[in-house]
Amino acid sequence: HEKLTKVKNIAYIELGKYEIETWYFSPYPPEFDNSPKVYFCEFCLNVWNKKDHLQRHMRKCDLKHPPGNEIYRSGTLSMFEVDGKENRVYCQNLCYMAKFFLDHKTLLDDVDYFLFYVLCECDDDGCHMVAYFSKEKHPEKSYNLACILTLPPFQRKGYGKFLIEFSYELSKKEGKAGTPEKPLSDLGKVSYKGYWTSVLLKILKKKGSQISVRELSEMTAIMPYDILCTLKDLNLIQFNKEGIQYICTDHNVLDIHLKDAGRGGSKIDTSKLLWTPYK
Ligand code: COA
Ligand code: NA
Repeated sequence: HEKLTKVKNIAYIELGKYEIETWYFSPYPPEFDNSPKVYFCEFCLNVWNKKDHLQRHMRKCDLKHPPGNEIYRSGTLSMFEVDGKENRVYCQNLCYMAKFFLDHKTLLDDVDYFLFYVLCECDDDGCHMVAYFSKEKHPEKSYNLACILTLPPFQRKGYGKFLIEFSYELSKKEGKAGTPEKPLSDLGKVSYKGYWTSVLLKILKKKGSQISVRELSEMTAIMPYDILCTLKDLNLIQFNKEGIQYICTDHNVLDIHLKDAGRGGSKIDTSKLLWTPYK
């Protein structure tokens, strides 16, 4: 995988209205190597190293949103499910673009085995991608998310946690708990930790310490292992005088952790999610 961690080859990408500085190397063909900037069609994600080539393309590209099915729409936010096999070129383009912002994942696997969930902000010009995650169609080990990215201009607005929550909503519909593929990046880790903390501690505040890890998992679709790690990290697994393990649900303690966990809570209107599990 030497090639995947090489130094940055292309410094900037243009996508829709945005010029974005890249973070890492992405394995584009050598003729792109001396391009300081590459130009993406924000809808089909094809790429050129000359602006006039993009402009020529934009006059005839009639895509105004990602291919695939719109499975969620609420206000101006829309989620599209794109099948890697049915829209192979789009999904390959997406992976290559994402690699500019991902360090250590070899996300250039065969896209056929993945579904891509592309989150868009929609206006009169179309549905503009802001973030996405991928999910294996037939994952080993209960993975419910392979790769997650919020494009840099849209980071830190809550979209990461929205996608994480979305991945668990899909797991709930599948009727089984899920977990993200490892390793997570540092930003991936804080986002998950924040999400897990706010979801679990809100339930603990309501239900008290009688609840078991298994019940928490059934309610949230978070894997028991991730629940235990989150609670242990926060020092909420404690022992009573008889040496019996229990979960601390002191409201003052929980409130401090909830505050640290940042913004959380449900932003997904599940009544607007139209989805059936992949078969
Ligand atoms: N500095 C410190 N904390 C940050 C941060 C930053 N630059 N960006 C995000 N966080 C933390 C915060 O705790 C934040 O919660 P808060 O804003 O409520 O305090 C939490 O992460 C999630 O923020 P959110 O706005 O929901 O996420 P995001 O849209 O910025 O997306 C990632 C999060 C991980 C998807 C995004 O950082 C990303 O795409 N990174 C590059 C790709 C990557 O590393 N993906 C994970 C690979 S496994
Ligand atoms: Na964000």
